[in-house]
Amino acid sequence: MRKPFIAGNWKLHKTIGEALDLAGALKQEVAGIDDIDIVIAPVYTSLAKVADVLVGSNISVAGQNCYPAASGAFTGEVSPTLLKDAGCRYCIVGHSERRQLFGETDAFINQKIKVLIEAGLRAIFCIGETLEERESDQMYEVLTTQVREGLKGISAEDMQHLVVAYEPVWAIGTGKTATDQEAEEAHAFIRGLLQGLYDEDLAEATRILYGGSVKPDNVDGLMAQQDIDGTLVGGASLKAADFARITRFKRG
Ligand code: 13P
Repeated sequence: MRKPFIAGNWKLHKTIGEALDLAGALKQEVAGIDDIDIVIAPVYTSLAKVADVLVGSNISVAGQNCYPAASGAFTGEVSPTLLKDAGCRYCIVGHSERRQLFGETDAFINQKIKVLIEAGLRAIFCIGETLEERESDQMYEVLTTQVREGLKGISAEDMQHLVVAYEPVWAIGTGKTATDQEAEEAHAFIRGLLQGLYDEDLAEATRILYGGSVKPDNVDGLMAQQDIDGTLVGGASLKAADFARITRFKRG
């Protein structure tokens, strides 16, 4: 059985004060939920303070990105080691906004995964096709390349510290969710890729999250799908009540 995993990506939102208010409210709203993993990813400037507020709670904290080096002359970057120092257990890597707006390649994302697992963090590894790729029948090829290149050299043991997040780019921030069937199809395909790269046991054990306009009113249908093990939520993670409702998706 794969333990459900519900993560909120706050992207570039919230001052420190607002982040602390949201984290505090969320802590109360989800208190006592112990059958799933709950993770939030605030902006760098509020990470340490949010992590402090959540010590001892059932919510873990994630970085939204990292640079694949422990330290050095890398102006403006943050390392996995420093994220861990700030109280993070997880880090998002390969988000489509990083790929599209900041030109991140599969090889660069692969380096990040390696360095962050080595630093003792867990990776939330994002993949997903654009609308153009989907409409021109390149979706499966794109997902295959992202998975194969992103996970190059990642051992089966290290895979225990990684969850995959399938986020179709056309569904992010658009209010246009993939249908339950579209999402399930992609997830089953990704699980098949993991089976090919590793083995069936690993593929069955790896959690694959869906992201892209997940809301309180569509989470139940998505989570009812066999290969959807959790969600990576953007907009709806910015309101405590909405995100809490998502963590209370209908259990099967
Ligand atoms: P939205 O939920 O706002 O569509 O964002 C999804 C996302 O990109 C999470 O990483």
